[in-house]
Amino acid sequence: MPLHLSTILEAADRLRAGGVVAFPTETVYGLGADALNEDGVRRVFALKGRPSNNPLIVHVSDESMAKRVVGAWPDIASRLASAFWPGPLTLVLPRAACVPEVVTAGGPGVAVRCPDHPVAIALIEALGSPIVGPSANPSGRVSPTTAEHVRAAFNSIEVMVLDGGACRAGIESTVLSLLDPEPIVLRRGVVTPEQVSRVLGTAPRIAGGINSDSPPPGAPMPSPGMLRSHYAPEAPLELFEPSEWSRVSRGTGVVVALCMDPATSLEPPSRVIPMPADATLYAAALYAALRDADALRPDLIAVERPRGVGGVWDAVRDRLERAAAPR
Ligand code: TXA
Ligand code: MG
Repeated sequence: MPLHLSTILEAADRLRAGGVVAFPTETVYGLGADALNEDGVRRVFALKGRPSNNPLIVHVSDESMAKRVVGAWPDIASRLASAFWPGPLTLVLPRAACVPEVVTAGGPGVAVRCPDHPVAIALIEALGSPIVGPSANPSGRVSPTTAEHVRAAFNSIEVMVLDGGACRAGIESTVLSLLDPEPIVLRRGVVTPEQVSRVLGTAPRIAGGINSDSPPPGAPMPSPGMLRSHYAPEAPLELFEPSEWSRVSRGTGVVVALCMDPATSLEPPSRVIPMPADATLYAAALYAALRDADALRPDLIAVERPRGVGGVWDAVRDRLERAAAPR
């Protein structure tokens, strides 16, 4: 059901008053506040329980709005924006003075992205200003891909939710830092390093894999998406190889297994949640599947390790490994 213009205008009024509005994007739902309103931005940190050294992405409606929040817009930013915006590529560039330091966690860079979703764009345009938007989940947990997921986590008085249906991509944007001469992928996403290479003519560096390093106290984190444990469901999660199925299926307690092999099944109350064999479809289904698994209150969520490599599979594997990491 398309959203009425009056709902978008009401949402923009809330943002203007320092309020919080959850909005759909093509990746996951964001928890929005006026990026230039420090009170609103602080409210987002508080609602998420997000440490203040984790910077937030600033969502813009187009390239000209992006230029208002950055201190420099190099040619490579133009080329990447032309190629991928609106879309799931976030660019980290020097921060303009108008962006409150709380947004960038005191760091020198601001992350900007133009979401490919008509509701997100309409909201930004109605406000006339950029909107911060971390994923609309309590810090460290699974990102929401439906309005219902957001409503389950936040009080409707504090957070107005714009329902734009299920998110298409299902995993978060690719984060690419352009702060150094050599572009660095800080977080993998559905825009792959290969696609970025084709536009730049050189391959971006991929920031070190899973790490558990905490930055020095007070220092901004390089990227919270790089924390070892992230995107985690409530239940413990384990990855298994297809050859380990017999061990998983004989496990004790209630097991929910996410499997790509359609032949697998488990005795109730354990259950198999079938997963698509295509990377893009798998990404779109993953977070809802983890939530469905959690809802069954299992002792273990067992996820068949996808065999696909490259492209979107690498981003999927990144999320699964962080979900499985010790907490
Ligand atoms: O797809 C997405 O990116 C979603 C939708 C709502 O746009 N947003 C999202 O935001 O995933 P969040 O806050 O959950 O993740 C933001 C990622 C984090 O890994 C964070 O470290 C990185 O972007 N980030 C944000 N600002 C940054 C900055 N100034 N420098 C480096 N990394 C930054
Ligand atoms: Mg997040």
